[in-house]
Amino acid sequence: MARTLAALPKAELHIHVEGTLEPDLAFEIAQRNGISLPYRSPDELRDAYDFVDLQSFLDVYFVAGGALRTPRDFHDLAWAYLERAHRDAVAHVELFFDPQAHLARGIALDEIVGGLSAALAEARETWDMSGSLIACFLRDRPAADAMAVLEEIIELDSPDIVGVGLDSTEVGYPPALFRDVFARAFEAGLHRVSHAGEEAPHTYIVEALDALRIERVDHGVRAIDSPELIERLARDGVALTMCPLSNKRLHVTPDLRDHPIRALVDQGVKVTINSDDPSYFGGYIADNYAAVREVLGLTDDEAAQFARTSIDVSFAPPVRKAQLH
Ligand code: HPA
Ligand code: ZN
Repeated sequence: MARTLAALPKAELHIHVEGTLEPDLAFEIAQRNGISLPYRSPDELRDAYDFVDLQSFLDVYFVAGGALRTPRDFHDLAWAYLERAHRDAVAHVELFFDPQAHLARGIALDEIVGGLSAALAEARETWDMSGSLIACFLRDRPAADAMAVLEEIIELDSPDIVGVGLDSTEVGYPPALFRDVFARAFEAGLHRVSHAGEEAPHTYIVEALDALRIERVDHGVRAIDSPELIERLARDGVALTMCPLSNKRLHVTPDLRDHPIRALVDQGVKVTINSDDPSYFGGYIADNYAAVREVLGLTDDEAAQFARTSIDVSFAPPVRKAQLH
């Protein structure tokens, strides 16, 4: 019997925990912390979701995320996402978070990670959902700052932090700026991913593979412009974590009929479907699957293949992957 998209067991691999902050929760958290957001109400915050590109989104994302102050805030944020993800049959999640955004407001790394880890532990207990954390560096800040945060991460030695990533403003901040940071992460046994080819050209993807030794590409939309890169991704089994509704809302691919997802899959690239920042982009993971199915006319079997791929290319231990198949 065909299972609905929301019931397919799947992994979510491109999800910024700060991007799951729904306006109502942002206001609740701001209120209890005595912080005033520069919007009068959750509706007014929602009205600011009129994005024209990545930067116009990031401006709102960092302001709303400014409400987060305590371990409880990080717990409540992650828990709200995990509950929602469970309804979409997410059985494994690798949550991105932006430590630098919070450290800059005086919150300690162990407070951020403590709150997020507590929520992951509850999800493990409640639904047998597995999960881990990927700390993303803000590419528009100096590499030396990222290196300092990486040293703190290594020192903290949290079993939940399995990798590092690179996000925020892309154009003008090429991956090679972070070569030494990612070399240190590699040496410390951390997995490596990077946003690349969202707004910047395919050359950023190539550079991230070469200079950062990344194992997955976040977005990777512009891979479609280089047959050579497509061949390399397919040959080396490097997966793309794509986010169709995000690409639509940020005008990366304003019309989803032009999204390269199908062409990439047809050429043998491993692609996963994810929600990126679901509070801002109008849909959680199953909505992203549904959008792809509708636009590309996927069969149930093809949709199920995306879910299987997400488990295969996750950083879950092999025994966990075997359980989820
Ligand atoms: N791109 C870059 N940085 C981000 C994103 C994104 O899609 N979401 C949150 N930070
Ligand atoms: Zn992202």
